Amino acid sequence: MTVTASKPILHLEDLRVWFPVYGGVLRRHVADVKAVDGVNLRIYGGETLGIVGESGCGKSTLGKAMMGLVRVTSGRIWFASKGEEPVDLAGLSRREYRPYRSEIQMVYQDPYSSLNPRMSVAEIVEEPLRVHQKQMKSEERIERVAWLLEKVGMRREQMDRYPHEFSGGQRQRIGIARALATEPRVMIADEPVSALDVSIQAQVINQMMDLQEEFGLTTVFIAHDLSVVEHIAQRIAVMYLGNIVEVGTTDEIMNNPRHPYTRALLSAVPRPDPDHPRDGRIVLEGDVPSPMNKPSGCGFRTRCPIAQPSCADEVPAMQQVGERQRVACPYSDRYQELLEKRQQ
Ligand SMILES: Nc1ncnc2c1ncn2[C@@H]1O[C@H](COP(=O)(O)OP(=O)(O)OP(=O)(O)O)[C@@H](O)[C@H]1O
Ligand SMILES: [Mg+2]
Repeated sequence: MTVTASKPILHLEDLRVWFPVYGGVLRRHVADVKAVDGVNLRIYGGETLGIVGESGCGKSTLGKAMMGLVRVTSGRIWFASKGEEPVDLAGLSRREYRPYRSEIQMVYQDPYSSLNPRMSVAEIVEEPLRVHQKQMKSEERIERVAWLLEKVGMRREQMDRYPHEFSGGQRQRIGIARALATEPRVMIADEPVSALDVSIQAQVINQMMDLQEEFGLTTVFIAHDLSVVEHIAQRIAVMYLGNIVEVGTTDEIMNNPRHPYTRALLSAVPRPDPDHPRDGRIVLEGDVPSPMNKPSGCGFRTRCPIAQPSCADEVPAMQQVGERQRVACPYSDRYQELLEKRQQ
């Protein structure tokens, strides 16, 4: 699907979510975990945007910020609710956020802990309807729950069972039905299949893609690696230590990655494609630094194969490098040259 809408449904502006850390006997504020640290991102109506990055880079926190589930430290989350003028969700209290909650829903990473074990499947899927569609009659609700379960490939007879009676894949389908209950416009799928058996991952993903199309959902699909999102997303954003380092169409990112980190991520994806040979596997040195103690300047410089002294000075700004591709690295077009210099 091509995305022609010029106005984003969500627009994150310099978004920060820092978790304070308290230490010592006096429990003083000693540091911050900079989980999301200056994210700028537009999400367009009807698109599927993939967000990719290693563990701990802030993907879930970013999703939770859009869901109003974590306190935003600074920045804005502009949300174009039902064609109205955009509202800034970042500035809202839980109560003020409530009217928008039904429009943005999340499918969680772990289907084993995200469903209440004491509630039946019907109760789980019905809950958001009770909260957001108070006018709906009980028979109507049950009918809708059954319809939703059928939509995700389950049977209505399974409604009265409990989560532990189901496999991981089925639980995730229940989670998807719950997320769809309020007819959201945006669905944030946080690694919805990473906890599942490889053999059923594709089934659940295909189901989600069908539903995305049928419901016209804008989808943010969070994943660890590019191979999962390349088949689902029209655009991909690559995240590292709380920042987006590169964003572009799936084609731009997969066939012409520009940021050294994206190049490294991609070199790990096996590809038997003679038109796009890989320059060999890039092995990143060292571990991801702690988000509590980020390097100055570019967060990636301590592991970057082409890092320059000036990379320590400031966080690199996003530069337009392709039709829809933007990269936060001033040296991206000199990659080969700088790499060869290094290796001499
Ligand atoms: N409530 C919290 N309090 C303190 N630190 C937190 C909190 N939630 C997340 N963090 C920290 O913020 C950083 C980003 O976490 P987050 O869960 O967003 O990463 P992620 O990219 O989703 O990782 P994964 O791929 O493992 O799910 C991590 O260092 C994490 O430990
Ligand atoms: Mg996560």
